[in-house]
Amino acid sequence: MKISYNFVMSMKEHIEEAFVKVFGNREDFISVTTPGRANLIGEHVDYQGGHVLPMAVNRFIYCTGRKRTDNKIKLFSFNYNESFEADTQNISFQSAAKWPNYILGVVQEFKKLGHSMPGMEIVFGGDVPVGSGLSSSAAVEICTAVFMEKMYDIKIEPVELIKLARRAENEFVGVQCGIMDQFAVHLSKKKSALLLDCGSLEYRHVPLQTGSAGFLLVDTKKERSLSSSVYNERVRSVTESLSVIRKHESVEFLTQVEDMAAYRNILSGENFKRALHIWEENRRVLSAVKSLEDGMTDDFGKAMYESHASLRDLYEVSCDELDFIVNFSKESDGVKGARLTGAGMGGCAIVLLEKNKIPDYSEKLSALYANRFGRKPKFYDVEPVNGAHFENNP
Ligand code: GLA
Repeated sequence: MKISYNFVMSMKEHIEEAFVKVFGNREDFISVTTPGRANLIGEHVDYQGGHVLPMAVNRFIYCTGRKRTDNKIKLFSFNYNESFEADTQNISFQSAAKWPNYILGVVQEFKKLGHSMPGMEIVFGGDVPVGSGLSSSAAVEICTAVFMEKMYDIKIEPVELIKLARRAENEFVGVQCGIMDQFAVHLSKKKSALLLDCGSLEYRHVPLQTGSAGFLLVDTKKERSLSSSVYNERVRSVTESLSVIRKHESVEFLTQVEDMAAYRNILSGENFKRALHIWEENRRVLSAVKSLEDGMTDDFGKAMYESHASLRDLYEVSCDELDFIVNFSKESDGVKGARLTGAGMGGCAIVLLEKNKIPDYSEKLSALYANRFGRKPKFYDVEPVNGAHFENNP
């Protein structure tokens, strides 16, 4: 079924209209909205108990759906214009169409908790760019989890729901991600970043008072085909280092190591670089948050540049496109800091710059980037928004 896009309607209205076209009427449906996220600082530390500082951004995934009386799961993706059907009693990983896996993984996790899941019919869609590192996958997972919680009246504490969504990604989708993305898209608050200790799962909201400066995302538009295998490889490397270090001191995570330099000759060269990044990045987040709270945006920007250098040289998850954007930023008027955001290897850079410089910055970068890489970057001028929320059928 081809559903066309009308720019006068909002994306959420489109999803609800698509639901009526695909499933017949609007009786008893509920809708859930979940934002994407951008991480300000604290990269590749969440799966080693580090601190992260993401914010939810004003790009959203929407779902609209209702229960069925049989066991069928009927899904429709507005963005892919594709239907998918499965049975709640027989859920398996899909290798052809990838998008249903994020939803099926969540349904599977609810089942593991002992909930007998009846059927459901849901339309998904949104404007979080896919493959750009803004966590469209975590947004789909949390959207599904909040939908199931509300639709079937299952009470789950927010942090438990977040853990459930992460398990869906780890166990069903097969990416060994940390917990940052699911947390950010669920529990962020508008005008704030979320400071999360991924070891204890304690968190607080940090008001984003950046004065005349704001955050801009620059999308490299680079294909990230190998990113999940590189990601899982980094997780493997740091897990290996942790088990070596545990023979010398008692720690749960690399971020708790007393002095990482002591392991320079104990870990292999490559493992040491990865571990050192995690250890230093975690400390960097804590001092950067203090700068932000003290209104020292220049110092926060400096920490962003340092974070990028560490991700490029120690963790080795940058790429020419991201380095180009960061180097250009360093030379540009009004820019305070820039770094890759998310897993890296493509996706987006996040730039902290004076808002009135955005047009000039974007125009110059666009021309130079296109000249070097043969395609233009995309710019998302983002705002910090609230995490996931749901609405009854209006
Ligand atoms: C991806 C993962 C997160 C986190 C970041 C890197 O977004 O899903 O858990 O590890 O990469 O910081």
